[in-house]
Amino acid sequence: MADLSTSVAGIRLENPLMLASGILDENGYTMLDVMKNGAAAVVTKSIGNEERNGYSTPIIVEYGDSLINAVGLSNPGIDSFAEEIRIAKRAGKPVIGSIFASDADGFTSLGLKMQEYGCDAVELNLSCPHVKGFGLEVGSDPDLVEDIVDEIKSKLKIPVFAKLSPNVSNILDIAKAAEKADAYVLINTVKSMKIDIRARSPVLTNIYGGLSGPAIKPVGIRYVYEVKKETGKEIIGVGGIASFEDAVEYIMAGASAVQIGTALYTRGKGIFRDIISQMNTFMDDEGFGRISDMVGVAIR
Ligand SMILES: Cc1cc2nc3c(=O)[nH]c(=O)nc-3n(C[C@H](O)[C@H](O)[C@H](O)COP(=O)(O)O)c2cc1C
Repeated sequence: MADLSTSVAGIRLENPLMLASGILDENGYTMLDVMKNGAAAVVTKSIGNEERNGYSTPIIVEYGDSLINAVGLSNPGIDSFAEEIRIAKRAGKPVIGSIFASDADGFTSLGLKMQEYGCDAVELNLSCPHVKGFGLEVGSDPDLVEDIVDEIKSKLKIPVFAKLSPNVSNILDIAKAAEKADAYVLINTVKSMKIDIRARSPVLTNIYGGLSGPAIKPVGIRYVYEVKKETGKEIIGVGGIASFEDAVEYIMAGASAVQIGTALYTRGKGIFRDIISQMNTFMDDEGFGRISDMVGVAIR
């Protein structure tokens, strides 16, 4: 039997599969349930300083097995999130607090609260493509990214992950600006839109949304490969993973762990156990004893 355990920034994971931010993770019980179903860790919904309602519906539209969403960073605000973390922590597995703000002070105060609530790491959302003043607007400015990452790293004891966007002209500039982060998370959704041709109008109230699911997997693989090759830093891969082959592809491109989001809608929670058992068989067949033996093996 292969050993499926792995680690990122010193955090041990019993297998490489984590829940991605934004799916079933605004509530402690749903996070707990996902971990009971095999996820080695969860990332929370991105949480800000204040409660936000997000956009009015429609906020999600299907594109085959993929999705375009413009939820608008709806969240209950950091002060009411302590209880959700407390519940999720009952699984005895790592819980990563995703946070968003518009400047270094905002990120740092959120990070300190996530640390106090018991999170094992924080993930900086530097990449949501559809909310003005946050996410991508912050994450595409290298000076601001450097400021945020340097400041939060100097104040927090727990590891800091920087979640970067594919919607920038040169991801390596942003990765370098975030080099003090303990690991990169690649990628967030790809800016996109859908038009209803009968209504002659964009479908989403926000017009633009973020594409996720199988349609973006080749984009994610390319960024993980490129950033791993150029920086050598630890990476968590995310984008379109719906099968064990997808997860292995990300690992061979350089990811030490992966996150799954959209496939929870199409495949259900059973996806974690399915991928774990099929990855085990694959590793035995291919002679890989441990996950670290596969990390980045495709890099040329
Ligand atoms: C409905 C929805 C909400 C999301 N919310 C967040 C969020 O709050 N913060 C974040 O960093 N990413 C968010 N994401 C992006 C995912 O975490 C992930 O990066 C992206 O969907 C690609 O992975 P996937 O193809 O497995 O879904 C969201 C994605 C979806 C589909």
